[in-house]
Amino acid sequence: MGATGATGNALVHSLLTSGTPVRALTRTPNTPIPGTTGEHRPAVEVRYADAADPHSLRTAFEGAGRLFLAMANGPAQVELETRVIDIAADSGIGHVVKISAPAAEPGSPVAVSRGHHAVEEHLRASGLPHTVLRPYAFMQNLLRLAPGVIRGTILGTTGDAPCNYVDCRDIGDVAAAALTRPDIAGGTYTLTGSEAVSHPELASRLTALTGHRIRYVDLTPDELRADLIRHARMPAWLADHVTEIQQLTVARPETPTTTVGDILGRPPRTLDAFLHEHHAHFRR
Ligand SMILES: NC(=O)c1ccc[n+]([C@@H]2O[C@H](COP(=O)([O-])OP(=O)(O)OC[C@H]3O[C@@H](n4cnc5c(N)ncnc54)[C@H](OP(=O)(O)O)[C@@H]3O)[C@@H](O)[C@H]2O)c1
Repeated sequence: MGATGATGNALVHSLLTSGTPVRALTRTPNTPIPGTTGEHRPAVEVRYADAADPHSLRTAFEGAGRLFLAMANGPAQVELETRVIDIAADSGIGHVVKISAPAAEPGSPVAVSRGHHAVEEHLRASGLPHTVLRPYAFMQNLLRLAPGVIRGTILGTTGDAPCNYVDCRDIGDVAAAALTRPDIAGGTYTLTGSEAVSHPELASRLTALTGHRIRYVDLTPDELRADLIRHARMPAWLADHVTEIQQLTVARPETPTTTVGDILGRPPRTLDAFLHEHHAHFRR
C-alpha cells in the first residue's frame, strides 16, 4: 500500500531492482506508478485499493503473501490502518511491514505518533507476524523548504537542536529487506541517516551549496504554526503536527542509529549527497 507515496514508491523500486514481484496498490490505478514504466513495467501489477472501502482491500489482498502498510497522515489514519490490518488478517497475509514514527507511545507529545502507537498495538493484537519501521524525518521533506530557501530563509522552532534525517530510498530498501529476509522480519527498527543536523547547520550547508546566503530564523511554536497555516497553507492538523515534531526534537535530543547500515550492509545515504543531488530545487 502507499505505492505512490514517498516510502512505498521507494520500496517498489527496491523490490523491482531485486526482481521481486510486487503488487502496487493505489486509489488511482489508471495513473502510472512513478518510475515503473519502461523496462520494469511487466513486474508491477497495479490494483485499486482504498482503505475506506473494505471490499477493495479484500479484492486487492487476494493471493498476496506480505503487505507493506504506509498511509498518509490525516484525521482518519488510525481508523484506515486498523481496517487494513483486520482485512489483511482475514485474507491470510503472512507478514505486515508497517511504517510508524519515532515516539510511538501512548503519552507521546506528537498526536500522529500516538496514532501510530494505537496502530502498532492493533497490529500486535492481530497476531499477524509484523515488522515496524520508525523512520525519523525524511530527507525528501526538505524539498518543501525550497521556496523559503530560494528567498533566503529556513523557519523552524528547534534552535540549535540536531535533527535526524533519513533518505526514503533507504527506508524502501529496509522495508524490502523486512519483507524478504527472515533475519530482519519481526523487529521494530528506528531508522536514521548517519548524522543529526541542526537547522542553523542545514542553512549553512545550503548557503555553501547554492552560493547565496540562507539564514535560519528560530520562531516560537505558535509563530511557526501560524506561518505554516498562513503562508504554507497547511491545514491546522498538519501545522500542529509539524510544530509538535519540532518541539519533540528540542525535548528529546536526536541521535543517529546504526540500524540502516546494520540491516543493509552499507552506510545510509548522506544528507550532503541528498542536497547535492537536489541542488537545482534550492537555487535561485
Ligand atoms: N514524512 C516524514 O518525515 C515521516 C517521518 C516518520 C514517519 N512518517 C510516516 O510515514 C507515513 C507516510 O508515508 P509516506 O510518506 O510514504 O506516504 P505519503 O507520501 O504521505 O503517501 C501517502 C500514501 O497513502 C496512500 N493513501 C492515502 N489515503 C489512502 C486510502 N484511503 N487508502 C489507500 N491508500 C491511501 C496514498 O495512495 P494513493 O493516493 O495512491 O491512493 C499514498 O501512496 C505516515 O504515516 C507518517 O506518519 C513520515
